[in-house]
Amino acid sequence: MIRCERTPAWAALQGHYQAQGRAFDLREAFAREPGRFRHFGVEAPEVYADLSKNLLDATALRLLLDLARECGLEAQRDAMLRGEIVNGTEGRAVLHTALRAPRDAAPLSPAVGASPFGDEVHGVLDAMLGYAERVRADAGLTDIVNIGIGGSDLGPRMAVQALDAYGDTGRRRLHFVSNVDGQDISPLLARLEPTRTLFIVASKTFTTQETMANAHAARAWFVAHGGRDVNRHFAAATTNVKAAAEFGIRTTFGFWDWVGGRYSLWSAIGLPIAIAVGAEHFRALLAGAHAMDRHFASAPLAQNLPVLLGLIDVWYRNFHGFASRSVAPYHQGLARLPAYLQQLEMESNGKRVDREGQPLALATSPVVWGEPGTNGQHAYFQMLHQGSDVIPVEFIAVRTPAHDLAEQHRMLLANCLAQSQALMQGKTAAEALGERTPTAAADLAPDVLARHRSFPGNRPSTTLVLETLSPAALGALIALYEHRVFTSGAIWGINSFDQWGVELGKALCNALLPRLIDGDTRGLDGSTAGLLQRLRL
Ligand code: F6P
Repeated sequence: MIRCERTPAWAALQGHYQAQGRAFDLREAFAREPGRFRHFGVEAPEVYADLSKNLLDATALRLLLDLARECGLEAQRDAMLRGEIVNGTEGRAVLHTALRAPRDAAPLSPAVGASPFGDEVHGVLDAMLGYAERVRADAGLTDIVNIGIGGSDLGPRMAVQALDAYGDTGRRRLHFVSNVDGQDISPLLARLEPTRTLFIVASKTFTTQETMANAHAARAWFVAHGGRDVNRHFAAATTNVKAAAEFGIRTTFGFWDWVGGRYSLWSAIGLPIAIAVGAEHFRALLAGAHAMDRHFASAPLAQNLPVLLGLIDVWYRNFHGFASRSVAPYHQGLARLPAYLQQLEMESNGKRVDREGQPLALATSPVVWGEPGTNGQHAYFQMLHQGSDVIPVEFIAVRTPAHDLAEQHRMLLANCLAQSQALMQGKTAAEALGERTPTAAADLAPDVLARHRSFPGNRPSTTLVLETLSPAALGALIALYEHRVFTSGAIWGINSFDQWGVELGKALCNALLPRLIDGDTRGLDGSTAGLLQRLRL
C-alpha cells in the first residue's frame, strides 16, 4: 500500500513548508491577494466554506491535491462507496452512504454504480418511520427515553437538539441515558410514569455493558411500578435482533454490520430523531446527507469540500504540527456537535498503525474539542488568542435563526465574525501601547502592560456557513464531517472504521468487577490494588 510520507508530494510539501509555509502570514496574504476570499470559498450542498483564513497558499493547496492523488484518495473513496471490504480488521464494508440513498437513486458516480442494499435499507426505513409516526400520534406516550452510548447516543442526542425547531417537543419529552453511572438513569426514572414512557434500547451489538445495565434497570423499574405491556413500552434498534428478542423486546428495527456505530444515526439508531421531528424531516436529513455524498463522490478534488477540509487537517497535523482543532458552532442547537465529532474523528482516526499493521511514522487524529459560541469565548478563547499553542478553529455560522430575537442573532453573528477576525488580525504591543488602559495597572510600566495586551494573530480558522439549521443542512453538515474524516484517514493509510482501542479497558473492567465484591487484589499493580481497596463499599 501507498505510504503518504514516501510520496513525492509529501517531500514537496515538506520543502514548501520549510521554505514558505511556516512563515506564511494571513494578514500579508489578504493584502497581497484581493481575490483571496473568493478564491478560497467553496460551495457544497447546504454548506458554504470560507477557507481563506487558513495558513494556505496556492502552492500548498496544489501540493496537497497532488498528495491526495498520489495516495489514491479517489480510488479509496470509490472502493468504500462501492461496498468493498475497506474495514479489513473486522472484514466489513462501510456503507453508511447506502442508508441515505433514495430508493432507486442514480449512482453516486460512474465509478461507483448503484447503491447496494436498497431494498433492505428502505424496508427498515419505512417500518421505522411508520412506527415513529405512530408514536408521535400516541398522546399517551409523553416521555421517550433513548438508552444507548457512543454512536448509539451521540448522533441522535445531537440531532434532536439541533432540530428542536422542527419538532413538536411540547407534546412529548425526549431523554437520553448513556452513562453506566446510575446517577444518569436513576433521577430520570424518578420523574417518569411507566404507562406514559417509551424506552428505546439502542445498541448495534446489544451487548454493551452500559446500555445493557441501563436497559435492565429500566425494565426492572417498569415492572416494579406496575408496567405490564413491555411490547408497547420498549423498542430496540440493533443489528442483534436475536439478543433484543431474548431481552423481551418485540418491536425491533434492525441494521447491518456495514454501518459503523459512529456512522449510524441514519439507520434505525435515528429512531429518536424521527420521533422528534417526524418522517418527512427525517427523510430531509437523509436527503441533505445524500447530496453531500454526491458532492464527495463526484466533485473535482479542488472543489470537493470534504476533501479540502481533510487535506488542510493533514497540512496542519503533519507539517505545522498542530495537535488539536477547536470547533465553535455559533448555534445553541449544535451544543452537542463537538462531543459528536470527538467520537467521529478520534475513534475513527486515533490510530498508530497503517492498514497493514505497520507502525506509522506520522501523527494522526488531532484532539477535537469545543463549545458553542459565544460560551467558549468566556472560557478558553483566552488560550486560543494568546496561548503558546496554535489551535485552528472551526466556526459554524447559521444565517437565519429559528427564533425571533433578531438583535440577539446579530450579536451572535458579530461575535462569530469578530473571533475569527481577532485570531487572524492580532494586535501588536505598539498598537496596545497606543490604547487607553481600562484598568489602573498601577505598578506596571506601560510597555510591559502592552505586551500582556498584545495578540500574535495569524491564527487560522475555517468558517462554515449554513443558510438555516434545517434537517437537510444538518444532514449535509454531518456527512461533510464523515467524509472529511475519511479523507485524512485515507491519506494516512489507516483503517478509520475499527476501534480496537476501546477493547482493553472493557476486558480489564470485566476482570475488576468481581474484585470490587471480594476485594481480591492478588496480581494487581500497586496503584490499582490500592485504589480498589479504597473504593470498595
Ligand atoms: O466504545 C466503543 C463502541 O463500540 C462505539 O464504537 C459504539 O458506538 C459504542 O461502543 C456503542 O456500541 P453499541 O451500539 O454496540 O452499544
